[in-house]
Amino acid sequence: MSAEIIDGKEFAAGLRARVAAHVARLKADHGITPGLAVVLVGEDPASQVYVRSKGKMTVEAGMKSAEHRLSPETSQEDLLNLINELNADPTIHGILVQLPLPAHLDEDLVINAIDPAKDVDGFHILNVGLLGTGQKSMVPCTPLGCLMLLRERLGSLAGLDAVVIGRSNIVGKPMAQLLLGDSCTVTICHSKTKDLPQVVGRADIVVAAVGRPQMVTGDWIKPGATVIDVGINRIDDNGKSRLVGDVDFASAAEVAGAITPVPGGVGPMTIACLLANTLTACTRANNLPEPDNLTP
Ligand code: GUN
Repeated sequence: MSAEIIDGKEFAAGLRARVAAHVARLKADHGITPGLAVVLVGEDPASQVYVRSKGKMTVEAGMKSAEHRLSPETSQEDLLNLINELNADPTIHGILVQLPLPAHLDEDLVINAIDPAKDVDGFHILNVGLLGTGQKSMVPCTPLGCLMLLRERLGSLAGLDAVVIGRSNIVGKPMAQLLLGDSCTVTICHSKTKDLPQVVGRADIVVAAVGRPQMVTGDWIKPGATVIDVGINRIDDNGKSRLVGDVDFASAAEVAGAITPVPGGVGPMTIACLLANTLTACTRANNLPEPDNLTP
């Protein structure tokens, strides 16, 4: 194996510590405690794990955590009423509605009901537009975490060829916008892309976010490239359940210059960035200077 392992777990711990230090100062100097509300509709097991973990880390960072667990039959009206209450609550600075929602709920309508200033996921159409036009916005947590890891590893990204595999609103599209904002030459690939291995083979930066276990193999990767694996897939490995990414780690690590592992790569960065976004939303809401040492 030749690649350097990008330790997202360690970087995320550092980021959470910087957030916690800011939160402590906000409390001491201004008597303000940032508050994050997480809304979970239904009983999806993976979502329950994420929401529990988000709540725990929010409290560990010194912030207020408000969890709202709603039944899978919750009506659209009840959910919108809750969002309106949270929008109006001055102790809540960030609102996250865990996705996916049950099929009877209109995801776009629900997300766009969140006050854009409290939209710590950065999914509201206003924040999407602000990001796309290079203006100050809330930036989606997973792509923001990927960008931080890339800047940490590579310094300036200007002029590099970046290939994003996956075009989701949560990761692929905002990731492409962020890389473009850092002056990469960006290609977005998806299920209809012709000759995906050949396109990936041109990339200095590969971000894989497709949700297909171990799809990207080492023979696709340009020697020395930086590989960011967003996938979290549970597979059966000889009767044992195991988490793997969208990248075949063993073969990719033979060729890449650096690679994120799964678990312990991008995953921990998502929650750390959620806390950072909540802190940012709180400082903006109170017209205080934004923390400037959170991102590399
Ligand atoms: N489901 C999977 N990833 C995410 C995320 O980043 N935010 C929300 N709200 N739901 C998700």
